[in-house]
Amino acid sequence: MKAIIIPQFGEASVLTQKEVITPQPGLGEVTIDVAYAGINYAEVLFRKGVVADLSLPFVPGIEVSGTIREIGEGVTGFQIGQAVAALTIVGGGGYAEVVKVDADLVIALDQETKTIDMEVAAAFPSNVTTAMMILSDVAHMEKGETVLVHAAAGGVGSAIGQMARALGAARVIGVVGSKQKIAYAKSLGYNEVYLRDEYVEAIRGSGIDIVIDQVGGDARETGLSLLSPLGRLVVMGNASEAEDVAVSANELWFSSKAVLGFNLQLMSVYHPKAVAKAAKKALPYVVSGQVSVDVTDVVNLEDIAKAHKSIEDRTSKGKMVLQVKTT
Ligand SMILES: NC(=O)c1ccc[n+]([C@@H]2O[C@H](COP(=O)([O-])OP(=O)(O)OC[C@H]3O[C@@H](n4cnc5c(N)ncnc54)[C@H](OP(=O)(O)O)[C@@H]3O)[C@@H](O)[C@H]2O)c1
Repeated sequence: MKAIIIPQFGEASVLTQKEVITPQPGLGEVTIDVAYAGINYAEVLFRKGVVADLSLPFVPGIEVSGTIREIGEGVTGFQIGQAVAALTIVGGGGYAEVVKVDADLVIALDQETKTIDMEVAAAFPSNVTTAMMILSDVAHMEKGETVLVHAAAGGVGSAIGQMARALGAARVIGVVGSKQKIAYAKSLGYNEVYLRDEYVEAIRGSGIDIVIDQVGGDARETGLSLLSPLGRLVVMGNASEAEDVAVSANELWFSSKAVLGFNLQLMSVYHPKAVAKAAKKALPYVVSGQVSVDVTDVVNLEDIAKAHKSIEDRTSKGKMVLQVKTT
C-alpha cells in the first residue's frame, strides 16, 4: 500500500511517499481503508523527533475516516465496509491507504441520522474529542463560566472555543498570534478575540474561570495569573517551544487555583473506552453544526510537506486533511 513515511527526523521535506506492507488486524483491532487523514501539529512534532521513543521509519497520522477493511479476533459491532472515523493516535499510521487500530478507538458514523462528510469525519476525532474531554472531564466547565482559549483560530483551539459555547460558557475569549486570524476566529463564535500581544491589557480585571493553553511560555505564566479563585489552567501543548514554566504549589494554595494537564495520546493508551465515549458524545455537536470543523484544505499525498510547513509557519487556519483514497 501507499503511505507517507518519516524516514528520518527533520524538516517537512523528509516526508516521503513509499510502498509499505499493508497491516493486518490483531486481537481487538480492525483495519480501515483510509479515505482522509487529519493533518495536525502532533504529526509535525513526530516528524521533528520531539516525541520520545518513536522508531523509524514511522507512518504519521493520528486520525482518519474511511471504511472497515478487516475485523480482528474478539471484535464485535463492526461490519466490513462500514463507514467509520478513528483515532489512530496510539501507533500513528493514518497517512496511509490502510491503518490498523484498536477497535475501542473506532467511531461508527452510521449511528448518526444526518450524514457527515468523510473530510470532516477525518478532522474531528482528535480536536473535537480533545475539546469535549478538556472542558467536561478535565476543567469541569460549568454553564455561565468565562473561558479563554489560546491559538483560538487553530485546529484544536477552534474546536475548544466552539465547544465551550455549545456547552454553555457565558463568555469565550480567543487569543491569536496575528491580525489575519482575528476575523476568522470571530466567525467561529468567540465573544471577543484579541492579539496575543494585546489581550492582557484588554481583559485585565475580568474574572477568567478557565484558560486553555496549547502555546506555553508567557501564555502559560500569564494564563495562571489571570485566573479567578477556583480558576483552572489547562496545559495541553507547547507550540511556542518555550522553556517549561515552573508552578509553585504554595502559590496555588494561596490563590485557590488549579493547573491541570491533558494528553489525548496517553488517555488513548490507558483509557481508550473513556476517549471513545467522549468522541461519541462530541460527534453530534459536529453533525448538528454547533461545532463546525472547518476543513480549509484537502491536500494530496504529494503536497503533504507543504501542509506541514504551513502549520509550522503559523499560516494555517482551521483544519487540513490529507486525501488518501482518490477513487
Ligand atoms: N494535549 C493534547 O491532547 C493535544 C491535542 C491536540 C492538540 N494539542 C496541542 O495543541 C497545539 C495546537 O495543535 P493544533 O494541531 O490545533 O495546531 P494549530 O493550533 O492549528 O497550530 C499551532 C498554533 O499555535 C500557535 N503558536 C503560538 N506560538 C507558536 C510558535 N512559536 N510556533 C508555532 N505555532 C505557534 C499558532 O497560533 P497563533 O498564530 O494564533 O498564535 C499556531 O497556529 C499543539 O501544541 C498540539 O501539540 C494537544
